[in-house]
Amino acid sequence: MSVRSAASLCIWAAFAALAIAVASCSSQKAAPPQPPPQQLLGDLKPVVSVKELMRDMIDPASDFVFDAVSDVSTKSGIVQNRPKTDADWERIRFGAVTMAEGVYLLKVARPFAPPGDENDSKGENPPELSPAQIKAKIEKDPVMWNAKIEALRNVGLQVMDIVKRKDVNELWDAADNLDAACENCHVEYWYPGQKVTMPELDRKIQELYGPLTKTPKK
Ligand code: HEC
Repeated sequence: MSVRSAASLCIWAAFAALAIAVASCSSQKAAPPQPPPQQLLGDLKPVVSVKELMRDMIDPASDFVFDAVSDVSTKSGIVQNRPKTDADWERIRFGAVTMAEGVYLLKVARPFAPPGDENDSKGENPPELSPAQIKAKIEKDPVMWNAKIEALRNVGLQVMDIVKRKDVNELWDAADNLDAACENCHVEYWYPGQKVTMPELDRKIQELYGPLTKTPKK
């Protein structure tokens, strides 16, 4: 018998003796409850509400993309922002990765707004849903909420891919997709009344600026 197998035999013998000792003890007294094993993954605990996650993470991350391809009118004319340097592309990647990973934090149960914040949900035809209304909508159809989350993640992945190829034209299209991914979720869960209140908005504009449809010239 080798030294190693002799040693392991000894260890097993010791374990067996221990097991017998434990068994005889436990027959006298029930073992105390064991704490659950520590998990490295899982048990994610939120820090902020959905509203704050949007304001402080998703929204600033999206600006890395939106601002990178934008035409801004200034006093001295229109400034065309396009990514040129490696650092420019790197910033876009920061945004894409933050969105692709960060949007999954919406899968962690968290309040929709900070305590006491009811959104603009009071009065007649309120523009926004209350946090409780948003929660109820998601609980009724979690599949749709998850689909909106995946839609934003997909745009994040698309932008990460574009950064590798440094394709400015594709980035323009991706910025449109990004805008749509944000809006499609908001119009469902944040301000669904907006669809309904468009005629209302038209009426108000007409009150202020007169009829929108021009009267035909004679
Ligand atoms: C899966 C759904 C979802 C997606 C995708 C999403 N949002 Fe939101 N967002 C919400 C909800 C819900 C609220 C309203 C939370 C509340 O007020 O209770 C919100 C609120 C916001 C707010 C308001 C924060 C405040 O302080 O009032 C901003 C800004 C925002 N989102 C930006 C974005 C941008 C930019 C994107 C896309 C890059 C995006 N969101 C994508 C669900 C989403």
